[in-house]
Amino acid sequence: MFWLKTKIIEGEGSLRALSKEVKGYERVLILASKSMKRHGFLSEAEDYVREAGAEVFSIAGLPAEPSVETVEELLPKLGEEFQPDLLIALGGGSVIDTTKALKVFYDVPELRFEEIAFIDRFSKPKPVPRLKTPLIAIPSTSGAGSEVSAASVLKKGEVKYNIVTPDIAPDVAILDPRLPRTMPAEVARNSGLDVLVHGIEAYTTKVASPFSDAMALQAIKTVYKWLPLSVRGDEDARAKMHYAATMAGIAFLNARLGLAHAMSHKAAWIGPHGLLNAILIPYVMKFNAERSEYARRRYGEIARELGFQTTKDLIEVVKELNEMLGVPQLSELVDEETFVSRVEEMAEKAYRDGLVAFNPVEPKPEEIRELYLKAFYGE
Ligand SMILES: NC(=O)c1ccc[n+]([C@@H]2O[C@H](COP(=O)([O-])OP(=O)(O)OC[C@H]3O[C@@H](n4cnc5c(N)ncnc54)[C@H](OP(=O)(O)O)[C@@H]3O)[C@@H](O)[C@H]2O)c1
Ligand SMILES: [Fe+2]
Repeated sequence: MFWLKTKIIEGEGSLRALSKEVKGYERVLILASKSMKRHGFLSEAEDYVREAGAEVFSIAGLPAEPSVETVEELLPKLGEEFQPDLLIALGGGSVIDTTKALKVFYDVPELRFEEIAFIDRFSKPKPVPRLKTPLIAIPSTSGAGSEVSAASVLKKGEVKYNIVTPDIAPDVAILDPRLPRTMPAEVARNSGLDVLVHGIEAYTTKVASPFSDAMALQAIKTVYKWLPLSVRGDEDARAKMHYAATMAGIAFLNARLGLAHAMSHKAAWIGPHGLLNAILIPYVMKFNAERSEYARRRYGEIARELGFQTTKDLIEVVKELNEMLGVPQLSELVDEETFVSRVEEMAEKAYRDGLVAFNPVEPKPEEIRELYLKAFYGE
């Protein structure tokens, strides 16, 4: 099966499509990050909403890598102050994920994060009832794919958990390449590497299909060819990466993700999501390829799409890309004592992460621990 709920509007200046998309709504709330306000995109979006005759409210300054607390702080404003009939998320994956979670608790206030989040793959969370408030997502980074995905990723304490339900997949995504052009190089790199890992993991899960494969491969090829230029600020490359991010999102919406994401979510206290994935993926690929004929074949297929031959080549390509883009070692992000003291707990939690079930190989907790340590010592 392949599905996509989100209507996708793309192109230079496509932000103006908002004026058409919000027609008929009365109270529109825009949630935005600091940079979207700073670069004038928030006021531009507000103007389009007003043009359509709706009342517009906004909250700017939403944080990166959001937590359950972020959502709890904002929630009363929605219910008591704004009472929106349409939500717009204007920012990176962090803003979109925050808005998705707000939508859940605004529509069904009696729900609690702990009962609906995928905390542990061995116990099923309570299903989220049907939600009603529509959501338009306007990504400003080219990475998370949250503008089409059915997931919201939030930190609880120091690790990340997912809420997953088709109803939080945005109704509309507007992909205007003007927005990601203002990303600093580091954000372009980190979010762009997330696209690569989405592509590679979605292509190699147990539930990949020819339709998710097409999206995953196109995303991977785009990253390989255009990410270095995009990081340097090339405008055309930024646009290509922007669309590739959504394609990878469509791939993992359907094919899900694997062990690298399970591990990065549990290491979320160390650094940005995309960066952690980029550091972990070569180790995860080697682990999978050594244990699964299917994984070897699939990595080989990706390698050949990029003009190489084997899994080994692909791992080298990913490592070289990381190096070229200045991706640090894990040991540069966290000190040895802290990391080693937490590795056991991270491995146990990653083992229990729902995404492990889609990985081509089911690892044991001690194997995940080994992988974390290999990534730390750069072996
Ligand atoms: N839901 C899903 O399916 C899914 C999938 C993968 C990852 N994720 C999640 O998504 C999050 C990462 O999202 P992301 O990689 O898109 O990055 P992000 O965390 O949304 O943004 C990172 C930083 O980039 C800045 N920024 C964003 N767009 C900018 C622009 N156009 N110009 C200037 N600065 C800009 C923001 O700064 P300001 O704060 O100053 O604006 C922000 O602090 C993680 O929490 C991850 O877990 C979700
Ligand atoms: Fe990701």
